[in-house]
Amino acid sequence: RTIFVLNGPNLNMLGKREPGIYGGKTLSDIEAECRQFAEAQGVTIDFRQSNHEGDLVDWLHEASDKAVGVAINAGAYTHTSVALHDAIRAISVPVVELHISNVHAREEFRHKSMIAPAVKGVICGFGPYSYILALQALDNLTR
Ligand code: DQA
Repeated sequence: RTIFVLNGPNLNMLGKREPGIYGGKTLSDIEAECRQFAEAQGVTIDFRQSNHEGDLVDWLHEASDKAVGVAINAGAYTHTSVALHDAIRAISVPVVELHISNVHAREEFRHKSMIAPAVKGVICGFGPYSYILALQALDNLTR
């Protein structure tokens, strides 16, 4: 069983990027934690990051053949992307939206998620542990 973990724009900058908000871990650190957790679950992780919206759309389509579920941190595209909303609607595997920070405790423009109505559920505000919670939710949805 494979789960795609998809990461959107600027998440390659984790560790250097606003550490007061996102913490000091890099995306590689988070990937390692996801792999460790997934191994214990008997799940394979396909962990990817892109700064380009279309890559995320392509990867969601790809997930429909290759994955049992998707965890996505769409970064700022969360708040803007009709294309991601439509891509999630276009596939039948469950998608969990996640965020490192509590977007509802931040600027007004982060309170709205364009993808939230299309996903199974949303996890936010637990730091990098949000990724583990998303994997746990997907394991529960797909086992
Ligand atoms: C984020 C929250 C988004 O608002 C922001 O644009 C990000 C990261 C998070 O993980 O907290 O890039 O998705």
